[in-house]
Amino acid sequence: MYTVLVSCVGKTGKPNLITLAWAMSTSVNPPLVAISIAPRRHSYASIEEAKEFVVNIPSMEILDATLFCGRRSGEDHDRLKETNLTPFPSRKVKPPTIKECIAHLECKLHSQFTTGDRTVFVGEIVKASSVKEAFTDGYNLEKAKMTFHIGGNDFATLDPKVSTPEL
Ligand SMILES: Cc1cc2nc3c(=O)[nH]c(=O)nc-3n(C[C@H](O)[C@H](O)[C@H](O)COP(=O)(O)O)c2cc1C
Repeated sequence: MYTVLVSCVGKTGKPNLITLAWAMSTSVNPPLVAISIAPRRHSYASIEEAKEFVVNIPSMEILDATLFCGRRSGEDHDRLKETNLTPFPSRKVKPPTIKECIAHLECKLHSQFTTGDRTVFVGEIVKASSVKEAFTDGYNLEKAKMTFHIGGNDFATLDPKVSTPEL
């Protein structure tokens, strides 16, 4: 799936960002989204304790920042400062929404379970917002250049859009 930037806030109250490629929608009603995180990640404890997170969807324009948050731990980096990404207050949860992202899903922890060496955190979306131009008549691929991680240091985005007739 496309890469996401998840924001969370730990015990210290300091926000952190983690890059995740393993994320997916899992339910429409209630609206649920799942993210898969290794327990050794610094963000892991924050999400488990605070039971809240925001799934921000970055575009290719901020690939460098997305990579930075996937290569340097928030344990010893202030990612918001070092990436120059702009946090602004979320409506329903404490972790911030990231302004430069094209969509934001504010989540309360719904459930969690272990799958092998990762934990899947399922979030109930309590507020969703997006950049208007990115989603006019479905995805606008010029504005919503989502970042797909295709392995190692390689990323791709979608092109072209194929619209299929109703069956
Ligand atoms: C493109 C990309 C995708 C990633 N996807 C995941 C993922 O799905 N799950 C995970 O646990 N870590 C993933 N990572 C690794 C974390 O983002 C990375 O270890 C990060 O520095 C952890 O931050 P933290 O220690 O502050 O939580 C990914 C890294 C990159 C670059």
